[in-house]
Amino acid sequence: MNAIVLPDSTLLFDRIADDLATTGYCIYPRALPASLTDRMYQYLQELEQEEFRRAGIGRDQEHQLNRQVRGDQIRWLSRACPEEAAYLAWMEALRTGINRRLMMGLFDYECHFSRYPQGAFYRRHLDAFQGRTNRVLSTVCYLNPDWQAGSGGELLIYADEQARTPIERVEPCYGTLVVFLSDRFPHEVLPARRQRLSLAGWYRVNNSLGGIVDPPR
Ligand code: OGA
Ligand code: MN
Repeated sequence: MNAIVLPDSTLLFDRIADDLATTGYCIYPRALPASLTDRMYQYLQELEQEEFRRAGIGRDQEHQLNRQVRGDQIRWLSRACPEEAAYLAWMEALRTGINRRLMMGLFDYECHFSRYPQGAFYRRHLDAFQGRTNRVLSTVCYLNPDWQAGSGGELLIYADEQARTPIERVEPCYGTLVVFLSDRFPHEVLPARRQRLSLAGWYRVNNSLGGIVDPPR
């Protein structure tokens, strides 16, 4: 594996932890080391269409494909693949960085690429329901070079379940990282007018409480 030398991200981790403690979310353009963003983008270009599958809603057992809810195709990351491992390593550094600062007890991380074909969207949803899954922190990183305003595909973030007007409208620009508390912020992806690429992931706590429902995958 070609080791990537990651620049020290201490200051960034400080700011992310501060934001999570105050507002519960943050949005940082060019958050990842540029070499890592480029590597992930190059790798995505090489992946074949067949290596993605339609995203489902609900648990595996009752796997439903529902284009009324989301139209993206996904591929889960694994440490076995060097490119995927490089991204997971940075996310692991962020995990320990946040734990050290906030003691959130983040235990592990799962992540997939998402490819939204032109016209695809993801309706408003929460990534976790309080007490029902062990996902606690959501991350999204965008891999769209030269994204033009007006291309749709914005991530809208709402303050709470009652809110009708978003508190944030995020353009899915290359290298932008969004982190938010999974059970706090409803969000949606507006229909994209061109293909839209992202990496969506979740930090989880090691919650062996009985009756836990696995997160959707
Ligand atoms: C998700 C999600 C947002 C985005 O995959 O759960 O909300 O901007 N993604 O891609
Ligand atoms: Mn989501």
